[in-house]
Order: sequence, then structure tokens, then C-alpha cells
Amino acid sequence: MDRILRKGIAFDPVQLKEFDSLIKNKGYRNRSEAIRDLIRGFLIDEHMSDPEKFMIGTLTFVYDHHKNEVQHNLTEAQHNSPHMIISSLHVHIDPHNCLEILILRGKVKNIQSLSDSIIATKGVKHGKLVLTNV
Ligand code: NI
Repeated sequence: MDRILRKGIAFDPVQLKEFDSLIKNKGYRNRSEAIRDLIRGFLIDEHMSDPEKFMIGTLTFVYDHHKNEVQHNLTEAQHNSPHMIISSLHVHIDPHNCLEILILRGKVKNIQSLSDSIIATKGVKHGKLVLTNV
């Protein structure tokens, strides 16, 4: 942020009281910080709806590595988009289940498409994509 602009905003006093209490519980030191985070969240949500926007994403998914071909299919999907995968983490949770986290970079439509194909892979039990940017 190059500089800060100060602007007056009108609030409903009842909502503001509730908001102040909420952000205090969340650990915000002041109202401005909380409102800036809300605005960033709004903008990120907007960017997520633009398929051509460049974003960064984390895809977290869990699968049973004993299931037929799942490991092979997941590796295949990742090898087809190597330029999008910045990093990956694999954790053996228990004798059956693996947790993987992929950090992805690219156009929203491409991140979404790769994530959808991984989550839809037979043997993947749960997956969630979180998009963000700076
Ligand atoms: Ni594993």
C-alpha cells in the first residue's frame, strides 16, 4: 500500500457495536484493519469470478492410496499441468489415507479445471480449493 486515504463512513450504531465486539474477539487491533480485510475479501471474491484473472490457489485433498489407480491418476493430472504447480506436500495420515496440498498459480479457469479434475478423481474423498492473490 503506497499511502492511506482517510474516508468517513456512516454506520448503523447497533451493527457497529456488534461489529466492534466481533473484531475484538477475532484479534483485530482496530476497526480500520478489519474493514480493510473485508474489502480485500470482497475484491478477491470478485477476482475469483473472473476466469481470466491470475490467482494463487491451494488445493487440499484427501484420498485412500489403496484405491485402484488413484495415485497414478493423480500423478498423471499433476504432470499434465506442471507449470501451474508451484509446490506440493504429501502427508501419510494413516495406513490408508494420504493428504496432499498443491499450491497452484495461473488463470482462475485453469486452476479451477485442474482442481475439479483432481477432486473428481475416483478415490479422492474430499478436496477444497482456496483462491487468493496479493
Ligand atoms: Ni501417503
